[in-house]
Amino acid sequence: MTILKLTGVTVSRGAGPVIRGVDLELTSGEIVAVVGPNGAGKTSLLEAISGVISPSAGDITLDGGSILKMSRVARSRRGLIHVEQGRAVFPSLTVAENIRLTARTATATAEAMDLFPELAKRAESPAALLSGGEQQMVVLARSFAAKPRVLLIDEMSLGLAPVVFTRLLPVVTAFARSGVAVLLVEQFTHLALGVADRALVVSSGAVTWAGEASVLRDSPETLHAAYLGS
Ligand SMILES: Nc1ncnc2c1ncn2[C@@H]1O[C@H](COP(=O)(O)OP(=O)(O)O)[C@@H](O)[C@H]1O
Ligand SMILES: [Mg+2]
Repeated sequence: MTILKLTGVTVSRGAGPVIRGVDLELTSGEIVAVVGPNGAGKTSLLEAISGVISPSAGDITLDGGSILKMSRVARSRRGLIHVEQGRAVFPSLTVAENIRLTARTATATAEAMDLFPELAKRAESPAALLSGGEQQMVVLARSFAAKPRVLLIDEMSLGLAPVVFTRLLPVVTAFARSGVAVLLVEQFTHLALGVADRALVVSSGAVTWAGEASVLRDSPETLHAAYLGS
């Protein structure tokens, strides 16, 4: 069932539109990868969905009702959770405290910690002492503790080695299997397409390709052409 729907979403910043007329439907339990060159508008698209910025045209609905007039906080209370690009942990707080910040219940904290056995062992360590990969685990665990229904993930791999990123992806898959709809913006295109059900290529603010992730993964020519905007 469709949970999130974008119709003709246009986002303007500074000089003009950076997202132009994007249509997208997201169903509970699926992962949709969003890939495309730097500056294509991927972050702006997620920001419009979570309410960081307002679209200049189009509509965004959650469970069939428009959310455009809802604040960011109201959207997150409805289960629309945005893991922002470059989002950091609170370094002086412990791992457990970082997760507790967004957790709805004590059970939610415990469940989120269980996602990564590495974290459970370091629950009382200041987050600053963790590696980059472990800090990204905290960020993911924190988003899970917020009980998302739609999870928007922006470049979770930023600054991480592919091998570390590969450790994080199964958790994203597990989120989806539990019924969460995931929009996964990612530079490690091949890895993202490996876990996604569907994919979109965004180039110069427009969707230049949409379809099954496996099709894009198996056709570098298609991916290349879509990146170039054709
Ligand atoms: N805060 C901002 N103010 C003005 N322009 C911005 C801002 N953030 C991004 N942009 C511009 O919007 C376009 C899309 O950027 P962005 O959404 O960050 O793309 P991506 O995430 O695909 O790299 C770029 O041309 C970028 O320069
Ligand atoms: Mg970005």
